[in-house]
Amino acid sequence: MESVKQILEQALAEIKASNELPALDELRVRYLGKKGEITALLKTLGGMEHEQRKAFGQAVNVAKAQVAEAVSARKDALEKLVLDARLASETIDVTLPGRGQQRGGLHPVTHTLQRMCDIFSRLGYDIATGPEVEDDYHNFESLNFPPHHPARAMHDTFYFGDGRLLRTHTSPVQIREMMKKGAPIRIIAPGKVFRSDSDQTHTPMFHQVEGLLVGETVTMADLKGVLQTFVNSFFEASLDMRFRPSYFPFTEPSAEVDIAWDKGDGQEPGWLEILGCGMVHPNVLKACGVDSEKYVGYAFGMGVERLAMLRYGVTDLRQFFENDVRFLRQFH
Ligand code: FA5
Ligand code: MG
Repeated sequence: MESVKQILEQALAEIKASNELPALDELRVRYLGKKGEITALLKTLGGMEHEQRKAFGQAVNVAKAQVAEAVSARKDALEKLVLDARLASETIDVTLPGRGQQRGGLHPVTHTLQRMCDIFSRLGYDIATGPEVEDDYHNFESLNFPPHHPARAMHDTFYFGDGRLLRTHTSPVQIREMMKKGAPIRIIAPGKVFRSDSDQTHTPMFHQVEGLLVGETVTMADLKGVLQTFVNSFFEASLDMRFRPSYFPFTEPSAEVDIAWDKGDGQEPGWLEILGCGMVHPNVLKACGVDSEKYVGYAFGMGVERLAMLRYGVTDLRQFFENDVRFLRQFH
């Protein structure tokens, strides 16, 4: 009986002192397992007398139950400690400052293009596109620039070795669309164009929005009206605007439109050319298989960056393509 008491006390003390689950399980096996110390006590029962066996058996069973109970209680406690530690290590401190998110935005030229397309869509124009790598026929010849025509020199063209070129304006889309769809037609064609050019108001790559309307009763007054409507709607203000007679091989008569512009150099405001336009030359209609006796039309080609400069008060067009984020961020 003395040994039962000793084993029990020792077992309880060790269980209480154990502080890891594997160690606790080792204790359980050491005392209660098949070859455990308490199990071993039961095996000594065989050699005892009846009364002694009864008392001893009871004492061992009580001890066994107490040890099992102690192991289970300690196990619960240790599991709770493990869980608490895990929860503590996984907490999120909601008071820490957040990580900054970098916000992106559309390029000011994209904003401007979208705005232009919106306005013309509302006026009933369909949107057309064409290739940036063009051939001489679509970029020049069909637009009434014969070979060696001096007006070709106004476009500082980038040529490929094989005779193809980077389109110098969006006017070839007029040709492609009229060849496909004939007349009547009402389209705009936004896109990139290329010229070997660079100064405060010119870059080697820029954007134009071409416009073409062909019908039976179209006049120069319609052209002026639509351009005035566009400019008022685009700038949401009435700006000083002038039509200046000009020359393009593919329109007759031709004009260029300028808008009053503060160059940002402290001088009196001057004029900034925003577009070229005119009545479609009969030779162009003929080249596209459109009956030039029946149909007349107008066309225009707008400089997108020029409009963006005026709208946003940018004084150097090249800034749009320098990719300085401090500049670009202002347009988010
Ligand atoms: C043309 O390109 C004609 N195709 C426009 C046209 C279309 C006339 C239909 C008649 C009928 P121009 O070369 O003037 O014309 O260019 C048109 C506009 O593009 C200019 O008014 C200007 O706003 C813009 N532009 C021209 N060159 C550059 C450049 N290097 N950088 C930025 N914008 C430019
Ligand atoms: Mg011009």
